[in-house]
Amino acid sequence: MSIFDKTRSFTTARLLQAEGIYSYFTPIEESTSTEVRVDGEWKIMVGSNNYLGLTHHPRILEAQRRTLEKYGSGSTGSRFLNGTTDLHDELEARLAAFLRKEAALVFTTGYQASLGAVSTFIGRNDHLFLDKLDHASIVDGSRMAVGEVHRFPHSDFESLARQLAAVPPGSGKLVVTEGVFSMEGSITDLPRLVAIAREHGATLLVDDAHAIGVLGDNGAGTARHFGVDDQVDLIMATFSKSLASVGGVVAGPEHAIHYLRHLSRPLMFTASAPPASVAGVLVALDIMEQEPERRERLWDNTHRVAEALRSLGFDTGASETPIIPVLVGDPHQAARFWRGLFELGVFAHPIVPPAVPANASRIRVSMSAEHTDEQIEQVLDAFARVARKIPSSLRTGLSLGA
Ligand SMILES: Cc1ncc(COP(=O)(O)O)c(C=O)c1O
Repeated sequence: MSIFDKTRSFTTARLLQAEGIYSYFTPIEESTSTEVRVDGEWKIMVGSNNYLGLTHHPRILEAQRRTLEKYGSGSTGSRFLNGTTDLHDELEARLAAFLRKEAALVFTTGYQASLGAVSTFIGRNDHLFLDKLDHASIVDGSRMAVGEVHRFPHSDFESLARQLAAVPPGSGKLVVTEGVFSMEGSITDLPRLVAIAREHGATLLVDDAHAIGVLGDNGAGTARHFGVDDQVDLIMATFSKSLASVGGVVAGPEHAIHYLRHLSRPLMFTASAPPASVAGVLVALDIMEQEPERRERLWDNTHRVAEALRSLGFDTGASETPIIPVLVGDPHQAARFWRGLFELGVFAHPIVPPAVPANASRIRVSMSAEHTDEQIEQVLDAFARVARKIPSSLRTGLSLGA
């Protein structure tokens, strides 16, 4: 028996490759904020998280160039040791103010920020409560945590309340939700969740990866959208979506962030985010405040595409944000649908288990403020044409997963 027995017999990806419907690791040769070149052909990108279209903004690129000259290409060390620059400190102060929290801590990626926040606060007698659709970074954080983990059905706050009530009195409790669910595009009912957490003496952590730049004044996220900033204890966000860079942040009370800073393994045992990436985030925050029309355009594009897809007969689930899933059901159908779109010049993603439950495979569309009317027309036309070629089981009301 060798550990390679399973690797030699792993055929899932190879079968998709043989059928020409393998969508992963596609090498992009060049990009603009809304298009990518693959194998010499330009495709409209509706699969990225570039909500505000800032990845190619001249001010961000200029700030990154200047920072490269001043600090070099990488930090070559942990935040804890030689990987903290004055830019990291400046960004932490800026994000704490932006998110209306006492302090903030910048991690190398959003994944590590989730991992750090979820794992570090949970001690042996503490309890962690996760929504079943919480992101993999939260689930992985719960696997690192030494306390007890409970998972409640997606957005089923009554189940959550029962689970909270059932733990021994006096235990520490942390509830973790996404602000905007990354595969559904739905917004969490945060006021209700805040009330339940408070009633049961639980701390609340919101992963706002997909809400920063999208929801609330200045794009400050889900808590601001609902006006409950002061009642959400901890906010986690990433820089890899609206903020057009890479990195992540956890913001909250000063004592909690101080603790995280000194005890969080996903912060301490990895090199820090490169200074140029950090500089890009600082400028992206400026632009978010100075160019609110970007968020308006993002929402116009979102409403237009969501309505058009629904009127074409697609089921977009519970989406109410720029993440618009087109439910397909069967993973193989989703891969075929992806291929059809790709051939028509549209780069979207098939989302299949384990990222979503069995029979809930989908094509996920993410809108950007920079998508033009012409690009949107082309995307919608591609969806209509592919749907004509693929059976009507993809249409609303018929059995998904068939
Ligand atoms: C909800 C959620 N949390 C965390 C992350 C991790 O962020 P990053 O990709 O910036 O590491 C993601 C990104 O996929 C996400 O969607």
